[in-house]
Amino acid sequence: MIGVSLASQTDVAGWRAAARRLRMAGVAPDAVRWSVGDDGGLLGADPLPDAACAPFTAPAAVLGLAANALLHKAEGRFDLMYRILWRLKDEPDLLKIVTDDGVSQALRLQKAVWQAEHKMHAFVRFRRVDDPPADETETYAAWFEPAHYVLEKACPFFVRRMANLRFSILTPYASAVWDGQALQIGKGADRSQVPAEDAREDDWKAYFASVFNPARLNPKVMVQHMAKHYWRNLPEAETIPGLIEHAASRAAAMVATPPTAPSPRARKTLAQREPRTALTDDAPPESIAAIADAIQFCRRCDLWRDATQGVPGEGPATASLMFVGEQPGDLEDLRGRPFVGPAGEMFDRALGEAGIDREDCYVTNAVKHFKHELRGKRRLHKTPNSGEVKACRWWLDQERRLVKPRLIVALGATAAAAVFGRPMAVLKTRGQALSLRDGGQALVTLHPSYLLRLPDEAARRAAFNNFVDDLKAAKALTGRSSTVHAQHCN
Ligand code: URA
Repeated sequence: MIGVSLASQTDVAGWRAAARRLRMAGVAPDAVRWSVGDDGGLLGADPLPDAACAPFTAPAAVLGLAANALLHKAEGRFDLMYRILWRLKDEPDLLKIVTDDGVSQALRLQKAVWQAEHKMHAFVRFRRVDDPPADETETYAAWFEPAHYVLEKACPFFVRRMANLRFSILTPYASAVWDGQALQIGKGADRSQVPAEDAREDDWKAYFASVFNPARLNPKVMVQHMAKHYWRNLPEAETIPGLIEHAASRAAAMVATPPTAPSPRARKTLAQREPRTALTDDAPPESIAAIADAIQFCRRCDLWRDATQGVPGEGPATASLMFVGEQPGDLEDLRGRPFVGPAGEMFDRALGEAGIDREDCYVTNAVKHFKHELRGKRRLHKTPNSGEVKACRWWLDQERRLVKPRLIVALGATAAAAVFGRPMAVLKTRGQALSLRDGGQALVTLHPSYLLRLPDEAARRAAFNNFVDDLKAAKALTGRSSTVHAQHCN
């Protein structure tokens, strides 16, 4: 009997290396005993043989299956996967025979692992740690008991979404620590190591109540399965009995009520939910609120994947002035509102000087998801490409159809291309009223973030004044009915 002791429950690399050596040395599965750690289970077993004999390359498909199935908690998984690997010698098409006992068992393990990973993405709840490090980066911790060994597998999802923060996810078998630069996997931990409560609890409760769909309630699944496995770590769990109790009346009310927009906070994690049926040309949104909701499920391009959420436009549906920016930035992506970061501050200041009340305007972006690349812990803005602008234009068209602004102000080249449907020379056309094919008017000006990038104070001041002049021209145009230049675009 050959004994193989793997370093940990998730030592997939160790299993691969050992399985390869065993297979090359012609050691049949019945002669191998697998275990984890130094648990004494291998007393009396022979050591792993040196690699010898025929070279062997495992097919990618079996390694892919093993990478998932080996994260299951089933004790016999290492043996099961080695048996499959062994049999591939004489049955090269084995993995295609899904009725085979071994293969179907491995596929079942894989599916359970995928489900456990998905549940982890959905049900991990972070609490703020009160004592932030010296650089004051916000730090969060979460306790979770995954059904299988999926912590490492689930982590890239959290790193993508919380790259700028620090976080730890503690589980009974391992812990993950992201310090803003690198992810480290360490020992298992205890629930008491995570703070019990913080201000975000209320956010989660409010969010859950807003996304809870009484019409889809399955009390049996919710109470018997979810309560047992997940509720105790969910701050919103205490709201569930009340929500179930009132589900029937709320479902009836939902049928009778037109859709409303979720709060920005509620929208924040909507992007993680499965897409619903998309609105289409045949079934366009009937209100600004419906657009705000549906944007969370937009799959017209790939930008939703790395964004926290879609950032819809905001402002009155009766606004006569619509501003279109390029795309949400880092803060907008986190807060779910347009122009609330540094460019937004510049924009607000210029609006103030031009005598325009932002509350009266509809403010949106050409592209509704934040396109960026990770550079260390920072998420750096990336300009959306023409395909992304084109894909997102459907939403802008819906906003234009519903708001019917008297004037659209395009802030910068991307916005101008989206508004006019073709590239525009911003510096040549800025500040002029241009007519659009739908009968509306548009004015092109610079993007406020351009002003932020000017290094020289005098140049910045001059550019700011010109920007304010363009906004004043926009304000004047919303009070007039005639088009200044007949330049048909769009
Ligand atoms: N830049 C934009 O174009 N839009 C925003 O919402 C923020 C920054």
